[in-house]
Amino acid sequence: MKRQKEQAERNSRLTAMGEMAARIAHEIRNPLGSIELFASILQREIADENQKRLVNHISSGVKNLNHVISNLLTFTRQPKPVFKEIDLHKFLDNLLQFGEFLMDKNNIRLEREYYPSLLSAPGDEELLKQVFLNIIRNAVQAMHEGGVLKVKTGVGEKGRNDKPPHLDRRAFPTRCGGKYIEIKVSDTGAGIAKDNLDKIFNPFFTTRDKGTGLGLAIVHTIIESHNGIIEVESDVGKGTTFTILLPKTKI
Ligand SMILES: Nc1ncnc2c1ncn2[C@@H]1O[C@H](COP(=O)(O)OP(=O)(O)O)[C@@H](O)[C@H]1O
Ligand SMILES: [Mg+2]
Repeated sequence: MKRQKEQAERNSRLTAMGEMAARIAHEIRNPLGSIELFASILQREIADENQKRLVNHISSGVKNLNHVISNLLTFTRQPKPVFKEIDLHKFLDNLLQFGEFLMDKNNIRLEREYYPSLLSAPGDEELLKQVFLNIIRNAVQAMHEGGVLKVKTGVGEKGRNDKPPHLDRRAFPTRCGGKYIEIKVSDTGAGIAKDNLDKIFNPFFTTRDKGTGLGLAIVHTIIESHNGIIEVESDVGKGTTFTILLPKTKI
């Protein structure tokens, strides 16, 4: 019941935030459109190169703002996944290649422990990309002095279950018809204080100076839209593991 209450609170906060963001975005977009239009007219009217450059700054500022607003909107809209069968190892390899530039300069070693045969599951690649990039980014940020980022995959089966930490998790194998996929991402970073563990998925919860607190809130809604589960285990000073469970077939 506690989990369900937390969930309901999280959802209503997200909904409220989404409505507010959509209204603000709308109010800002119209005048922004005018600024963009007039800047481009001005750009054509003036001959002086220096002045053209100044007008260019206005245009690119407007483009940036537009980008920020679109991002905010994707963050707050309820995700509607378009399901496709995904080859998970290929998907993860692509993603990790992309994430490597994050790890390189931070002295982080990448370890992979993949399930020995092909793993696939239905999912929305674009949305799942957001999930793992957010988790990896957080992991890298938690390892200031370097460390190991490990990605492990496996299959779960009803009956074979490892320690079920809560009811949600215990019901999960049945809910997804017996078979599910498990992806673990762990880091050897700072860890998360016990008091914060049940807050990290809340929108706007952050312990970072420049954090938005939106990353894991987005991750959570995306995993939910896939009928999956996400869990976290953490030891302060030792590291953190995120476990994602996804149904093997669409439910
Ligand atoms: N791998 C991790 N190690 C330690 N702390 C983490 C990790 N992932 C998330 N956190 C904690 O959860 C908070 C929320 O994360 P997130 O929603 O991504 O927002 P942000 O990254 O903007 O702070 C972080 O500020 C941090 O305290
Ligand atoms: Mg983050």
